[in-house]
Amino acid sequence: TVLILDFGSQYSHLITRRVRELGVYCELLPCTQKMADLHFKPKGIILSGSPYSVYDHDAPRVDPAVFDAGVPVLGICYGLQEMTNHMGGSVEACDHREYGHAMLTVTKHPNNPTMDKLFANLEGNVQVWMSHGDQVSKAAPGFHVIANTRTAPYAAVAHESKPLYGIQFHPEVTHTVCGQTLLKNFVIDICQCSDEWTMESFIDKEIARIRKIVGPTGRVVGAVSGGVDSTVAAKLMHEAIGDRFHAILVDNGVMRLNECQLVKKMLGDHMGINIKVSDAADLFLGKLKGVTDPETKRKIIGNTFIEVFEAEAALIDKEAGGEIEFLLQGTLYPDVIESISFKGPSATIKTHHNVGGLLEDMKLKLIEPLRELFKDEVRALGKLLGLDDELVWRHPFPGPGIAIRILGEVTKDQVAIARHADHIYIEEIKSNGYYRQISQAYAALLPVKAVGVMGDKRTYEQVIALRAVETKDFMTADIFASAEWFMCLKRISSRIINEVKGVNRVVYDISSKPPATIEWE
Ligand code: XMP
Repeated sequence: TVLILDFGSQYSHLITRRVRELGVYCELLPCTQKMADLHFKPKGIILSGSPYSVYDHDAPRVDPAVFDAGVPVLGICYGLQEMTNHMGGSVEACDHREYGHAMLTVTKHPNNPTMDKLFANLEGNVQVWMSHGDQVSKAAPGFHVIANTRTAPYAAVAHESKPLYGIQFHPEVTHTVCGQTLLKNFVIDICQCSDEWTMESFIDKEIARIRKIVGPTGRVVGAVSGGVDSTVAAKLMHEAIGDRFHAILVDNGVMRLNECQLVKKMLGDHMGINIKVSDAADLFLGKLKGVTDPETKRKIIGNTFIEVFEAEAALIDKEAGGEIEFLLQGTLYPDVIESISFKGPSATIKTHHNVGGLLEDMKLKLIEPLRELFKDEVRALGKLLGLDDELVWRHPFPGPGIAIRILGEVTKDQVAIARHADHIYIEEIKSNGYYRQISQAYAALLPVKAVGVMGDKRTYEQVIALRAVETKDFMTADIFASAEWFMCLKRISSRIINEVKGVNRVVYDISSKPPATIEWE
């Protein structure tokens, strides 16, 4: 196991992700973790970046025992600065905050091959991604430069006799082309970790664990949405306890076109899972009446969901003679990280809607079979469990549904327009072979009207914005773009305008994340 200590950087979870991709199990813990209290012995430690400066009076400090644990340490960005600061070097603010690509020049040390290990198989100029306001201005005693950039003389350093390394750039983001090679050099070669973390071993272990927790008669309820996570969690639960698992699908009125029927067919008919669909569309739409603020929409949908789910679960419990003791949740590791990671001064961008609030009210015990996994591990697990490719590769769909893709008030008519346009869009994406290349695509309905001409008549109708992004982790995203794709968009636009009543204009969203987000609200 590799220990990753989080100092509150936006990218901390990505480090974890990349290390797991190498087949190495790792855990992310807040930087306040004391080495003495650790429940495992790490083979290596990575210190993350941070929004803080090491000289801030409230800057997060690392437990000094980290450097005496006798295992290799890699400091990334703030991690490097903290290590430098702690060990007697200096850190200074740069003239300008450096953000973006930089060219790294690697320096080899033929007399000290251990220092070269971090950049093994990387020679000459290497493109990396920087995001920092401070940088090392004097290395700590015993440390030497192993790479520099035009503006950062200490872009990477290594200790001459201890396995301590520091880098100013971010190997965990995909923009750092050599990032994965560098992390591999650290965890496999320097830390000597084995790469045996696989999904096959996970299934058997997890089914056994669920059976043990639930016992021979216990029952479990869980919400399903048709997304990969809840479906994989439901399938795993069904494999473990069969009909003692009860799935509930809440129709909130803002699902995609025909979604509820599709999910019922897929989980109920094909997988044999006990599933109940609760039609609460009118209740949700009633509560959303007149609401235009994105956060308010999210909160209403989240709270109403809990209300409906609890009522359904109570009914099932009554029918089952009061035997429901557990709640299944498809929580993934990024959510776990979010709740345990060190909170820097980062602001809440959006309130994500999950079923987290359920536990406060219901007296159920939580089972989260996917809580150690990242999304692509869940996909691999889904494939191993025999789920269709179509399902395994489904684009993510947000809990608040198309309510956050209809800007302004959500009404039945607006839902119908957004749904129809989205359906055409996704259908075309699939039939033209783009679905797997795109990470997430959808149609949003804008609350503006534009003038158009159809036949000889003036029209004054609404605008659809199409979004398609490529991303590995949904934390940053680029727009999906190519010449052929734009030709395809042209055809899609004409289909939407011709077939969807109330729309006379289609635009393509060309904003990356950041500064935009993937969803419009
Ligand atoms: P943003 O818009 O924050 O979205 O760039 C990142 C990813 O999260 C999805 N998303 C949600 N998923 N509940 C969810 O389960 C939510 O409330 C929610 N809001 C956004 C979004 O679709 C994208 O994949």
